[in-house]
This record gives sequence, structure tokens and C-alpha cells, in this order.
Amino acid sequence: MEVVPLGSAAEVAALAADTIEALVRSRPAAVLGLATGSTPVATYAELVARRRAGTAPSYDEVRAFLLDEYVGLPPGHPQSYRATIARELTDDLGLPPDRVHRPDPTDVPTAGAAYEAQLAEAGGVDLQVLGIGSDGHLAFNEPGSSLSSLTRLKTLTEETRRDNARFFNSLDEVPRHVLTQGLGTILRARHLLLIATGAGKAEAVAAAVEGPLSASCPASVLQLHPHASVLLDADAASRLARADHYREVYAGKPDWQGL
Ligand code: GLP
Repeated sequence: MEVVPLGSAAEVAALAADTIEALVRSRPAAVLGLATGSTPVATYAELVARRRAGTAPSYDEVRAFLLDEYVGLPPGHPQSYRATIARELTDDLGLPPDRVHRPDPTDVPTAGAAYEAQLAEAGGVDLQVLGIGSDGHLAFNEPGSSLSSLTRLKTLTEETRRDNARFFNSLDEVPRHVLTQGLGTILRARHLLLIATGAGKAEAVAAAVEGPLSASCPASVLQLHPHASVLLDADAASRLARADHYREVYAGKPDWQGL
């Protein structure tokens, strides 16, 4: 795992955008795994700004797979993750809806296996963007999730529902159920790019990066992956015991190596 403590959230967004663009330049038919939530919004805005400025690579052959989706929202609800990613990123990158996939919340019993089949048919995810929940969740894999789980129905914790209530009119409106890629699904992506910003994530980041591998901190599953990058702003890195060492390693990296 490579941990990269940076100075600001803007630096995190810029490096994450650089990494995504570098992949798409080298592999025009790249398969991107996309997270929703607040954290990647700045990265997505950076990608869109670069496209508007005419400096972005072509996304004509890129496909995208969402990490997760709410179950039970009315069709077209603006807070569905399908609507959110279209609004924040994929529409502006020119990805049509048929190249942006999600687990299908209208057919919950078959959605998990169907999504795994779609991912396999696409050849798997090249680069998976990840956020982290304040309780250490990854996608919607709450504490206690099997470290080898696949896409399936899950029940949200009260903490996550409260965290996400800001996107809805009230806590009651936040769905209780979701479909999410499993931790085993996420581990199949070839490169994991976890981004975290703000002091509210510091404890979860420290547990994921320096704590024990444990289903009690689902994001600790990154410790099993051969190519995981963790981009942090100063606040999110503030509880790491080895932050100075990570900074020294990153500062000494040769340019050609990338993330
Ligand atoms: C959400 C999403 C996750 C996200 C996490 C953190 O509920 N399902 O994919 O990474 O929780 O969200 P945020 O970035 O808004 O803090």
C-alpha cells in the first residue's frame, strides 16, 4: 500500500485526476470504478474542468461501474447514485448512460450476480476510486462485512444513514437498504485509489492503514491488495503514526513511477 499525505484537498483532487487521466491515456478503453459521496466530488470537478479546457484524454471508449446504489428510492430520484454520478461526472465527460453501470435496485434478488457477471464481461475494473466512511466502511460494506464478499444487498448502519442524511430532506428519507460491491469484488480491481479528506476521516484512515486487517474496519482490506494508493489531505492523515515516513517515501519517488 502506498500512503500519500498531501497538503490540501485540492492537491488530493489534482493527483487523483492525474492518475485517472494517465490510465485513460494509456488505455483508451479503460474500465473505471467510481465512488459517490462528497469526497470524490473535487476530483470529478477537476476532470470535468480539464475536459472543458480541452486538455483531457478521450473518454469515447471508457466504461464505468459504480460501487453501490440505494434500494427503494423512486425512479429518477436525484440522490440515487446513478443520478449523482451522471450529474457530477459522467454526463460532462460524455459517457452515455449505457456505459455507466450500477447494481440494479429494481431487481434486488438477481442484482448481485448480474453485476458480478457484467464486471467480469467488461474484463474487470482497471482503476477503482474509493472513499471511506467515518466507521471505516468501503462502498456500502459496513463493519462486519465479509472480507471476501461479492455484490449483494446490505443494511446501512444508523451512523451511515446519519452521515448521508445531509443529501436528503430528513433522516427518514435515507434508504435503509443498498446494493454494494463486496470487499472481494473491490479487491479484484487492478488498482485501488482511496481518497480521504478532512479530520472526520482521520480515525478511520488510521484504522484502515495501520490497524489490524479486520472486518470491523472494512477499509483495512486494502492491506491485502497488491496495488493500493491512499491519497490524504493533512487532516485525514493527522492520526497516522508513520505519516512522516510516508511523506519521505513519496518525496523520494522517481517521476516515472507514478502511483
Ligand atoms: C458513502 C458511500 C461510499 C463513500 C462513503 C464516504 O455512503 N457509499 O462509497 O465512500 O460513504 O462518503 P463521503 O465521501 O461523503 O464522506
